[in-house]
Formats: sequence, structure tokens, C-alpha cells
Amino acid sequence: MRLPFQDELRRVPPLAGRVAGLRPTTVNLVMAEARQLQKEGRSLLSLMRGQPDTPTPAPIVEAACRALRDGRTGYPDNQGEPALREAIAEKLTRDNGLSFHPATEILVTDGATGGISTALAVLIGPGDEVLLPDPVYDAYNGPITLWGGRPLPVRSIVRDGRFVLGRAALEAAVTPRTRVLLLNTPWNPVGTVLARAELQELMDFAEQRDLFVLSDEIYEALVYDGQRHLSPASLAPAARGRTILVNSLSKTYAMTGWRVGYCAGPAEVVRAMLLALQQSSRGPATFVQDAAACALRSDQECVRRMAAEYQARRDLVVGRLRGLPGVEALVPEGGLFVMVDVRQLGRSSDEVRRFLLHETGVIVLHGSAFGPGGEGMLRVSFAAGGETLERGLERLRDGLLRLVV
Ligand SMILES: Cc1ncc(COP(=O)(O)O)c(C=O)c1O
Repeated sequence: MRLPFQDELRRVPPLAGRVAGLRPTTVNLVMAEARQLQKEGRSLLSLMRGQPDTPTPAPIVEAACRALRDGRTGYPDNQGEPALREAIAEKLTRDNGLSFHPATEILVTDGATGGISTALAVLIGPGDEVLLPDPVYDAYNGPITLWGGRPLPVRSIVRDGRFVLGRAALEAAVTPRTRVLLLNTPWNPVGTVLARAELQELMDFAEQRDLFVLSDEIYEALVYDGQRHLSPASLAPAARGRTILVNSLSKTYAMTGWRVGYCAGPAEVVRAMLLALQQSSRGPATFVQDAAACALRSDQECVRRMAAEYQARRDLVVGRLRGLPGVEALVPEGGLFVMVDVRQLGRSSDEVRRFLLHETGVIVLHGSAFGPGGEGMLRVSFAAGGETLERGLERLRDGLLRLVV
């Protein structure tokens, strides 16, 4: 099909070279593939996205409406509304045992996505490298590339049913150009919640190599079996001094579309980040920031209820896949995804994904989308529950059974 104005589009002058290094995220690619099938009349069920299907709790919605009615529609403070920064500081003390000054050490961003990009803008320059676990959330590569840096994947291994990141792999990957160690705990897509001893080892490594640590903690509230999320910055004052904590309200309060998140870090870094952020954003809408402050300050029972619901869904996924020949589900400690080991099926993870999509109408992601370390695995999301999860799991089981050799 020809697009309107296609000839004119072809004649635009050359774009900036950095564009060539950017790729769409896998979720967007697979969604485009799925939409095409839906246009052809196929019925699909998605076990793909990390989008909680529960509604944003009513008091948060009400706070936004109230703020709108009160005329809170002007430009926000570019660093974040003072009341929200205070609420974030209180939350960091309450949940993470961390003390950050709201005036100088906290920055409100457009979701964690805005925080990650803004942090990288001030941490890396052309040719600088960022160590990141392999496999990991694939949307880190884009901003690293955009700011002229280079992702350095660190191969993780599966030990006792969980993905872990070892010191030896870090040592093998690091070079004199490395500036940042990027961590994600709970870790998307593998579900590991980094334990104190593991974090200690990683922070010791960062200390010895004098690296910044960019810590994406967006799944912190979704941890299971009585586990506790630990913030790398909370290990020691030295750890706090080199860490930029990134978080958002997207997952914790089912607010993915509200686009509000935050960073906390040393004042010098936050000052630089504010400057960088100002070049592309005025921050989340003022009434959204009021609602975010309400979310962080109100009774956290809604968060505990959500975590319990997701733990039940996780158990459902693991239970339904148990005993299936040639397939093994790894039990995640946190997050919204189960990694399913399909190596014994004798096909690449992308081939298995495509088969499931085209032959049984269930959308999952291939592990290799998250780096070579994810090959042989499928990522199955339990962010959607109810009928979608029940029927999606049926299709997944049927499809996997058909692939057994
Ligand atoms: C690990 C991780 N970080 C960041 C994000 C993006 O978060 P936000 O919606 O706050 O921009 C996601 C979204 O799925 C994610 O999985």
C-alpha cells in the first residue's frame, strides 16, 4: 500500500545520524504484527504487556478530578510540584529507608521512561558505555544510543531456577570507557528480586570501578512470597552517593497512562538532570502530579491488594504450565512476567512465539527480544487476569503441546 505523500517523504533531507541506531521496542513490533492478524479477522489474546489491568484506585482518580476542578491546569514546577517532591521523599523514607531532600535531590519525570533518558543524558557522553544485564527490558538500549553511548550486555546465568548476575561476567564486560551500571530490581523480564548479598557484590564492583548506578525500581511493589525489595542506594552512604534511583507510579498504582515518575540522587546529578529535562519537557501535568502525591501519601492497602492479586495470577501461570513436556516455567520473585524455558522444543524462542501467535492466537514475547541471554525462553505476562489469562493460558498450553518433538 502506498502512503499519501510517500514521494514527498522520500525527498526529505537526510536525518541526524543517531536515528540509524534506534529500533522500535519489541512490544511495538509484535503489536504491529498482531494488529495485522486482527485486521484479517483473527481473534488474539495478549499475554504480552506489562500493563496492570486493574483500574487506578478511585481516590487517586478523585484527587486528579478535584485538582482539575480547582484549576490546577497551569505549568507545573519544572523540577516537580513541591508537594509531590515532599510526598516522594516521605515515600522513600517509609518504603526504602532512604533520606532525600525534596528541594535538591528529587526530580519528577514523565514516567520512569523520562527518568531513565534524563539520567543517561547527564551520565554518559559519546563513546561511554553502560553495563546492563542480559536479558533485560529492551527499552534501555534506545536512550543509551541516543546519547551517544554503547550498551554493554552482561550475560546472566540461571542458577537454582533464577537468573543471576555474577561478578565474573561484569569483570569480563567492563572497560575503561564504562561509566554506568544499570540495574533493574525486580528485574524485567526474568523476575529476580536482587538479594542483599547480590546487591552488595554489584555495588562493591561499582565502587571499585567508580561507576554510577542507574537503578530502575519500577516493579518494587510487586514482590511475592514475603520477599522484600531492597534499594541499592540503601546499602550504604557510599552506595547512595553513586546511585540514581528511578521509579514511577505506572505499575504500583496501575497508572501507566498517567505518565508520572521520579528520580532521586545526589544533588549535583539532580541539578544537571533538571537542566537536561527542561530541554524536552515541562514535567507531568500539574493535576496529575497532585494525584500522584495523593497516591504516595494515602493508605497503601490498595498496593498490597494488587500484589496479592498478581501473586495469585503468577501461581496460576506456573501451575498451568507445570508438567508440560519440554517446558519449564521459572517462578518469578517479583514483577509481572513468567519466563518459560522452551529450549527442549528445539526451536528458537522467536519461532515458538510466532507459532503461538499464528497457530493458536496467543501473544507472548520471545526471550531473545531482551538480549541473547533470553534465548530459549518465552516471557509470559500475567498483567492481564480474568478471562484473558485463563483462555490465553489454554491457548499457550495447546500450542506448546503441539510443538513437543
Ligand atoms: C523495567 C521497566 N522500566 C521502565 C518502564 C517504563 O515505565 P513508565 O511507564 O514509568 O515509563 C517499564 C515498562 O514496562 C519497565 O518494564
